[in-house]
Formats: sequence, structure tokens, C-alpha cells
Amino acid sequence: EIHQREYLSNGEMKTWKGQVHEVFSPISVQTPGGLQRVLIGSYPICTETEAMESLEAAVAAYNNGRGEWPTMGVAERIHCVEQFTGMMIEQKDIIVKLIMWEIGKSFADSVKEFDRTVEYIYATIDSLKNLDRDSSTFEIVDGIAAQVRRSPLGVVLCMGPFNYPLNETFTTLIPALIMGNTILFKPPKFGTLLHYPLQEAFRTCFSKGVVNVIYGRGNTIVPGLMQSGKINVLTLIGSSKVANELKKQHPKVNRLRAVLGLDAKNAAIITANADISLAVKETLMGSLSFNGQRCTAIKIVWVHRSIAEEFLKQFNVAVSELKYGMPWKKGVSLTPLPENNKINYLNDCITDAKAHGAEVVNENGGTSAGTFFYPAVVYPVTKAMRLYHEEQFGPIVPVVPFDDLEETIEYLIEATHGQQVSIFSDNANEVAALIDPLVNQVSRVNINSQCQRGPDVFPFTGRKDSAEGTLSVADAIRSFSIRSLVAFKMN
Ligand code: G3H
Repeated sequence: EIHQREYLSNGEMKTWKGQVHEVFSPISVQTPGGLQRVLIGSYPICTETEAMESLEAAVAAYNNGRGEWPTMGVAERIHCVEQFTGMMIEQKDIIVKLIMWEIGKSFADSVKEFDRTVEYIYATIDSLKNLDRDSSTFEIVDGIAAQVRRSPLGVVLCMGPFNYPLNETFTTLIPALIMGNTILFKPPKFGTLLHYPLQEAFRTCFSKGVVNVIYGRGNTIVPGLMQSGKINVLTLIGSSKVANELKKQHPKVNRLRAVLGLDAKNAAIITANADISLAVKETLMGSLSFNGQRCTAIKIVWVHRSIAEEFLKQFNVAVSELKYGMPWKKGVSLTPLPENNKINYLNDCITDAKAHGAEVVNENGGTSAGTFFYPAVVYPVTKAMRLYHEEQFGPIVPVVPFDDLEETIEYLIEATHGQQVSIFSDNANEVAALIDPLVNQVSRVNINSQCQRGPDVFPFTGRKDSAEGTLSVADAIRSFSIRSLVAFKMN
């Protein structure tokens, strides 16, 4: 158990003596009273006062762009981040275990999350070195010699999600930091303790106030930060509802940059010409890996009516072969869910679908024990159902039969989300005819493969309510900086 009482603010580890939040793992154990979630630690519930002190520390370290960090040379900043990454690697074992225990991610996927984060940091460093080389050259146009620089933006409030608590926090925090911004970082509600071992590394590698970690309840501490008008960049991987509420609180929203990864309801479109077994394999992992708790997960499957029966037959067999169990079990894909109330939500969606004429068509689908929820394949889903519109973010696969591909395009046009889509078809002409209409609705069209974020050097964004700004290695560097010119008139 980790009972954390320290938080990093203004270069010091401050000791918290107030209320704490107890962290219960999604992993349950059998007790005489039934299944009980395991207590794994606790962390401070800091108040607005501590959050505002940390904000002032970040503001002072930035010092209107005159602080040591924003004015430091790129090579020195890279050195600090490399030193930090080295210290982070030393903590790998404990961080991986905490990812697993805090959010119930399988051990193998927790290791992958850690390794991918380290690779992302090194890729960011490489990309910045290239960018820096490019921008140190002068361009001479119309008698003006100009050096294009990349300058920081100020204080960044950084909030990652529970499903990738390390990786998706660092895919914004690291580029923001390396570009010379100062950071206020609030870990997600599920996935906080795993950041604890990194506080000392932040304290050692970055000077006072450059990185500050705030703990507590987002709805208590974040509004005051936004209302202060001192946050220059809001970066959040979460829901569009929360992002919109936070943006509205900023008194000068036109001066706030937002870098956001938000809602998604990615569709798989399986045409009459699809290789059904390939579509099954890709859609299975696309919709159910890590219990469907990925923003990139396939959250609705459109299948041509002529092959729907065969697709469902194969898909249900594939679901029944998925391994479920405790996260340390080898090959496991389905693990306990971290949110207690999630099971009620998933059951409500199924009840609603049944009331409108759909069924759970796989054996044991939708059954639960403790925080386990066995995946439900729901068919036929129609527009009248919640599962057609809502991002379930869990192990339910809604399947919609269609007769004409135009129906799928209409769905995407009407949708409020626009992250990705997967097309399954072996007919090149059919695929070619779909790409243009689809790529104008979403930001990534996958052909005969599942939706996903990686490889991380590819741009990662979305249309409509799915994103603001672009993440990925080089794009993130751009998102957290501004191009500025130093221009000399040649006489
Ligand atoms: O949850 C959102 C993540 O960006 C998903 O990333 O496709 O690599 O699992 P992934």
C-alpha cells in the first residue's frame, strides 16, 4: 500500500495533513461478506488553496517568458528531460505494478504502456532536435532575413485520462515541458498513485516551479485555476462536456489554447465484400481490448445485412475465446473495471436496447460479478437506442445491420464525434469510393484494420467533439509552442 502524503509544489515536497482519498483497486478479493475491492493506498485531497499556490509557482517559474526554464537553450532542456526519463526507467517495476493495480489493466499492457511512454519521450526529443536544426537556419525573402523560432506559451494545466494514466498524461506533459512551458499537472482520479514515484524525479531534474503536481478533486480545485486567467494552455484527455465547462470558466478564452483528446464513437463498416474472418479478428480486439476502455475503440459495428448472421456467428465464438480474469493472468484481455458505477451504466444501455427491440446475442453477454462485466454483443441496434449514440467506453459491442453503404455515411455525418472509422472490404473500388466521404467526417480511416492511435508519430486528432489540436510526437511539439520570427532587414 502507498499512503502518499507529499505533493510537489514550487520545487518542494510539501507534506499534506488534511483529508485523503483512499484508493481501492478494481481487483476484488473474496471475503466473508462477499467480493471486496482491495485498498492499495491513499493520496491527498488538496484544496483550492494548495492548487492556487502551485499555480503561482508555475506562473513565477515562467515569469512572463523570462524565467530560467523558458529561456534555457533547447539542448539543456532536452538534457533535463533525458535525466528525468533515466530516473523514470529506474522506477519501472513499481509504476507498472501500480498501473495494473489502480486501473486493472493487464500486466502485459501495463508494461507496454510504460515502454511506449519512454519511446514517446525519446521520439519527442529526436523530433525536437530536427525541428530545432531546421529552425536555426535563416531564410532570406524579399530582402528580409528571418530566423523562425519555436517559443513556449506559458503555464500548461495538464490532465490525463484513467485508461492511459501514464502514457496519455506524458504525451501532453512532456512536449509541453520540453518546449519551455511550466506545468501544473493533475493526475486522473483512477491512476494517481502511479505518479507518486515520479515526483522526486521531477523535483531533481527541473528547477523550482517548473513542474507542480496537484492532487485532489478536479471539480474543487480546477475551476479556480481556470477562473484565475493564468492558465495559458488547457490540455485534457477526457470528455468534451468537461473540456467545454473548463474553457468557459477562463475569463479570456480567446487567449487560452486548448489541446484536447475527447469523445469518440468509432465505427467499423463491414461491407458485403469483406473478408469476414479478418473483420472479426480486427473488430474483436478493436472493440474489446482493455474492456473497450480506449478512446480509439470501435464502439459501433455496421455490418451488411447479407453477412450479418455469419459475422455474428464468428464474432460470438471469438468473444467466447477471449481470456478474462485478474490482470496478472497471461493473455488476459478482459479485466475488472475501475469505476463502480460503470456496471449500472452498461446494464442501463442494454435494458434500453432490449426495450427497443434488440437482444444480447452472445452466451453470458452482459453478466457481471464484482467489477467484472462479460462483453455483450447487442443486435440489431437502431437509431432509437442509446447504444447507437452514446460512447459506452466499456465491453458492449452494438451491431447495426445495413443495406446501403449510404446509411453508414449518413451516420457519420450526423454523429457528434469524428475520430476514426474502419472499413472492411476486399473490393478496391468500393473502398476507394468510401475513403473520400469518410475522411471528411473523421481524422483517420483504417482499411481492413482496427482503429488505433499508433504508431505515435502519426498525427492523432479528431473532428467535431472528438479533439482540439493534434497530438503525436512532432504535432505535440507544435501544439505546445508558437512559431515566432526574428527578422532582419538587409540593407
Ligand atoms: O484511449 C485513447 C487512446 O488514445 C487509445 O490509444 O489506440 O493506442 O489504445 P490506443
